[in-house]
Amino acid sequence: MRRVRLRFVSDVEVEFVDRVRALGQVVEVAERGTRFPIVVYGPEGCGKTALLRQARLILEDHGYSVVYANPMAGREDEKLVYTPSIRDIVKEALKALPDPYSRIVDASITIASMALRRFRRPRVALLMDDLFQAVGVDRAEAYTKTLLNLIEYPPGDYERIVVLVASSEGVTRERVGRHDWATMMLLWNMPREGFRELYDRLPGEKPGFEDAWSLTGGNPRYLGGLYEAGWSPDPILDSMIRARRLKSFIKSLDGKEAEILREAINDPDAIFERLREPGARSLERKLVELNLIIEVWDRNEWSWVDEPPPEKNPELGIGRYYAWQTPLHREAVKRALGA
Ligand SMILES: Nc1ncnc2c1ncn2[C@@H]1O[C@H](COP(=O)(O)OP(=O)(O)O)[C@@H](O)[C@H]1O
Ligand SMILES: [Mg+2]
Repeated sequence: MRRVRLRFVSDVEVEFVDRVRALGQVVEVAERGTRFPIVVYGPEGCGKTALLRQARLILEDHGYSVVYANPMAGREDEKLVYTPSIRDIVKEALKALPDPYSRIVDASITIASMALRRFRRPRVALLMDDLFQAVGVDRAEAYTKTLLNLIEYPPGDYERIVVLVASSEGVTRERVGRHDWATMMLLWNMPREGFRELYDRLPGEKPGFEDAWSLTGGNPRYLGGLYEAGWSPDPILDSMIRARRLKSFIKSLDGKEAEILREAINDPDAIFERLREPGARSLERKLVELNLIIEVWDRNEWSWVDEPPPEKNPELGIGRYYAWQTPLHREAVKRALGA
């Protein structure tokens, strides 16, 4: 299998590692196509973009014309990546739009539609990275429906179509989920062995593996962040607290919410256990919206891309029903609480 090369930290590139189950799932999808758009949620930095980029290679090797759009990417050449066989279509689509790179989501849907229309019984894959963050929460449902329409009422006859969406916008999950327009799945942080491979690639002096694991819970972006911060979590926690304005968030909580939050530091399932009490529901919404916790459902294999997290792991802040995105997220909240 071809492996995509990824920038890991400023001075280290890596090939896609591990995620063995996920790769098998992508192969299955390539062999069958998707009946609904598959929307993959997961913690920030868990590896959604990496997986979509790797999926592009797998799909191409299965004969797909692939359009990958990443509207939140900084560079134009990372915003739109596509299979060379559709270059002419891409050029045409981009020419038709004023300032196409600011509307790369619409451009990529147009490109996929054109490929469906122009080729004879094609295999087409549309991979949309950070879609909901780009189009905004209010338009998450409309775009999901547009993608479903592409599958159900294609502008041309296809052999197979694959539509994959990645998102870390927890707030859109409920909105998109309530329609049955998409298959919702979760991707968690990396399993230990894969995470160890990335840890091993980092040069220089570093803390023991266990420390890196228990700080990040297997999240590769925060592993890279720690490396770049000289392995001190303080600047990372500081910027989490500032960027999410956690101090004023905590100040705004009522007594009950603050009490449940304190409990959730030790066990995120406290939120679930107390959902009938006033404050629990509103607290849950706020923590999801701030991308601090994720509702993790059951560990059914069909709900998860790659391996689900463990059933419960208090050290990493993983409960049965809710989980802190990483132990660093939990620590940031703990600090902001002044605990
Ligand atoms: N399976 C993997 N193999 C190698 N590097 C990975 C893998 N998954 C993630 N990474 C790296 O970890 C960092 C964060 O991953 P990314 O895909 O950007 O997360 P997300 O899109 O979920 O926020 C990136 O530098 C990425 O290249
Ligand atoms: Mg991403």
